[in-house]
Amino acid sequence: MHVTHLSLADFRSYARVEVPLDPGVTSFVGANGQGKTNLVEAIGYLASLGSHRVSSDAPLVRMGADRAVIRASVTQGERSQLIELELNPGRANRARINRSSQVRPRDVLGIVRSVLFAPEDLALVKGDPGERRRFLDELITARSPRMAGVRSDYDRVLRQRNTLLKSAAMARRHGGRGMDLSTLDVWDQHLARAGAELLAQRVDLIATLQPLTDKAYEQLAPGGGPVALEYRSSALDAVALDAVALDASEAGLDTYAAASAHTRDELYAQLLAALAGVRKQEIERGVTLVGPHRDDLVLNLGRMPAKGYASHGESWSYALALRLASYDLLRAEGNEPVLVLDDVFAELDARRRERLAELVVPGEQVLVTAAVDDDVPGVLAGARFMVAEGAVERV
Ligand SMILES: Nc1ncnc2c1ncn2[C@@H]1O[C@H](COP(=O)(O)OP(=O)(O)OP(=O)(O)O)[C@@H](O)[C@H]1O
Ligand SMILES: [Mg+2]
Repeated sequence: MHVTHLSLADFRSYARVEVPLDPGVTSFVGANGQGKTNLVEAIGYLASLGSHRVSSDAPLVRMGADRAVIRASVTQGERSQLIELELNPGRANRARINRSSQVRPRDVLGIVRSVLFAPEDLALVKGDPGERRRFLDELITARSPRMAGVRSDYDRVLRQRNTLLKSAAMARRHGGRGMDLSTLDVWDQHLARAGAELLAQRVDLIATLQPLTDKAYEQLAPGGGPVALEYRSSALDAVALDAVALDASEAGLDTYAAASAHTRDELYAQLLAALAGVRKQEIERGVTLVGPHRDDLVLNLGRMPAKGYASHGESWSYALALRLASYDLLRAEGNEPVLVLDDVFAELDARRRERLAELVVPGEQVLVTAAVDDDVPGVLAGARFMVAEGAVERV
């Protein structure tokens, strides 16, 4: 798919801007702070309903305005669609598809698909587990938009369960009678139900990404690997996880994993058992201790984990390899995503620059941002826009 027109109103630094786009490569060039990333952030938002830079919507609304609108025309094959999203911080966001407002923002997911490379990606390798969970879950949602519902169910149940545990912990400390544990049983079941689905998708995704990431790393940094992705679950041990992965691959779940009922039931039972095992500690500490929200994706390079061991350059190559693998995956599963390279070339040495450029140049739509022209590799000469003082002009 590709975006043929992007229009923003009160989004970030833009009061209003209209940007017509073509397939192929387009670069946005301009000095620091002129609004290049703001443009591609808007496209990323349409694809994931979130920003790669901030976790709440408030900073996305132009200072002084009370709502932002992102509007995009999107073409996939013969089909064109108009998507509109209105961001209302503190209130519900609204969406329209082809001018119909009978839709929820979540229904927009899957129309725009994008893979975004940004300097922030270094945190995938060096940062907290939360960064890697978000990476996995956003990709899961891009593969299968209905997972947005499962994710928000999980988050909601987790919040409610934590509230309950917190009040139980308070009551205990104040010598209260303790809580009615049957309520907690019900929350355990809800948590395990959504958690099992999320876990099954993550395990399957990692099995699918593994060879793609290894290949991408080899292309970016020949001889530097191998890389190995390892899911670390707070609830299941490695043996149980392997069994799930095997189960999933036997069921032929390599694409659009709709985890088999068997895998899901198995995981459900294991999550419930894990919750039962830590219940006493949970009631003491007032927080949910096991589940997908506590898991991590360990990124190994050679025989060591990249985090804490890999050099700066290796960490960068790893992050890029994960993004390239995501791109390959979404592409292979149909509906090619928009590839966004936000300021990444400036961070790379000449060799990796060229390699990355060659790998992405065949993409259906590639959007590149750079502070100076020289940072954009020659093979990515495409349409060019100058971004300055709130204006985006084709040159
Ligand atoms: N909500 C907002 N309201 C108004 N201005 C904002 C808002 N959010 C960000 N900005 C402004 O947008 C500018 C940053 O834009 P952006 O990140 O797109 O820059 P850039 O062109 O990518 O720069 P760089 O080359 O440094 O990455 C900053 O000047 C910032 O003050
Ligand atoms: Mg930028």
